[in-house]
Amino acid sequence: MSDFPRIIAHRGASSLAPENTIAAFSKAMEVGARWFEFDVDIVGDGSLIVIHDDTLDRTTTGTGSYYRLGFSDIRRLDAGRWFSDTYRFERIPEAADALEFAHAQQMGANLEIKPCAGGERLRERLVESLAVAVAGSKVPSRLIVSSFDHELLAAFHAASPNVALGWLIERACEEWREGATALGARAIHPGVEGLSRRDVQAMRDAGFEVNVWTVNDVEQARELASWGVTGIFTDRPQDFPADALAL
Ligand code: G3P
Ligand code: MG
Repeated sequence: MSDFPRIIAHRGASSLAPENTIAAFSKAMEVGARWFEFDVDIVGDGSLIVIHDDTLDRTTTGTGSYYRLGFSDIRRLDAGRWFSDTYRFERIPEAADALEFAHAQQMGANLEIKPCAGGERLRERLVESLAVAVAGSKVPSRLIVSSFDHELLAAFHAASPNVALGWLIERACEEWREGATALGARAIHPGVEGLSRRDVQAMRDAGFEVNVWTVNDVEQARELASWGVTGIFTDRPQDFPADALAL
């Protein structure tokens, strides 16, 4: 058994390149990571975009909400300049681009569905479009779809019953057992804040994999592995040894 859990590059190698861009996924691959995580939401024309926030301000040259925009507006934005000049002109990818990248590089991927605040119709379209995207031929063979929005996760499961699911929670003290079991989730994805060995043991005993976010400290990752954690999300995959990254 390894000293480390599986290392999942959080939003790509997001300490080295702008989060949720192909540049960040490429960096993750370059430093040896075999898995990356990315966030997905929907824009007004039904396109699925890779972005964490529900507004454009922090990570792009755009402003405000994107729920009324089309992808032609999104593709004009610079999603790298906020991070550094090196990444000027980096674009917001579509979800299919991220899936295709993972497929092409034979990396595992965790697609996190953001709790879309664009209204009921867009939430329905998000699930429909995602089901189409993951049914494509260029998707990674190792794929986990997760969400804090358990209603969206259940709707996605109904549309795509064969995809492995991660039940995301902020804190391990939240109730997870009933919902995750009913949905047949593969994994619980708890935040590291306040997580205890006992919590991890209970999740493992209930038959779930446990992927913990966000862990940027190598020693903490090692300790989590000793608790039985399956994987960790990190902004700093470059800090981990090659044998840990290979898991
Ligand atoms: O999916 C793990 C982690 O990414 C959840 O939190 O806010 O970084 O998307 P957040
Ligand atoms: Mg995320």
